[in-house]
Amino acid sequence: MQPRVTTSTLIKMKQEGRKITALTAYDYPFASMLDQAGIEIILVGDSLGMVVQGKENTLPVTMDESIYHTSMVSRACAYSMVIGDMPFMSYQGSLDKALENAGRFLKEAGASAVKLEGGADVCPVINTLAKAGIPVQAHIGLTPQSVHQMGGFKVQRDEDRLLKDARDVQAAGAFSVVLEGIPSAIAAKITKELQISTIGIGAGVECDGQILVLHDMLGINDRFLPKFVKKYADIAGVAKQGLEHYIKEVRGREFPSKEYEYK
Ligand code: KIV
Repeated sequence: MQPRVTTSTLIKMKQEGRKITALTAYDYPFASMLDQAGIEIILVGDSLGMVVQGKENTLPVTMDESIYHTSMVSRACAYSMVIGDMPFMSYQGSLDKALENAGRFLKEAGASAVKLEGGADVCPVINTLAKAGIPVQAHIGLTPQSVHQMGGFKVQRDEDRLLKDARDVQAAGAFSVVLEGIPSAIAAKITKELQISTIGIGAGVECDGQILVLHDMLGINDRFLPKFVKKYADIAGVAKQGLEHYIKEVRGREFPSKEYEYK
């Protein structure tokens, strides 16, 4: 079996020009599939709120919920690096609170890193966690926890600000940065300049790696999909077919047939 992915693996992959694969997962069965498929990073994203809990945005997700889901994912992983996503208001209040909450992902939930949203504004948090030995993945560009401040889920195009945010989070000690919803040319510039790996979502092919929300790319639910999502499977379609078949057979007295009976 391959050794587990660490922050050093990701740095080496960037240096060697090998693309990093990342996806979200929120439970044991899917995390097992991702781990066995050889995905380098599994993010237990706060997208949990939207694709699993059926909420309108990511803001209501709590620390306890994130810890619960991250524990399930960690139990399934022998290869992939598991990253816990810090929920809205779990790191914005005070550095002490941010440290305590980030520590829970490593101590209680078996993650080996945390992710948090924001650029220059969250550098003191990144620095505090990194100094305490907690690897931090930053997340800049379209940051869903700021949906109300941004006036919706909008592509971010301010090149100077994006470049500054990227440089600042690297300098503060982040080991990687997610670039979400930004023009490909800006993502390419950031990727070329930074030593740490950039993981893109809606940020073009030049990023060091790519991440998507699992439920979007596998077609697990039928919610609106942003332009950058490619649907690699139609799990909801397959499940619906199976369910309709079951209902038909139960109603038609075809199931259970003799082979499913005890003599
Ligand atoms: O919560 C999440 O799933 C994320 C990814 C989209 C990067 O932050």
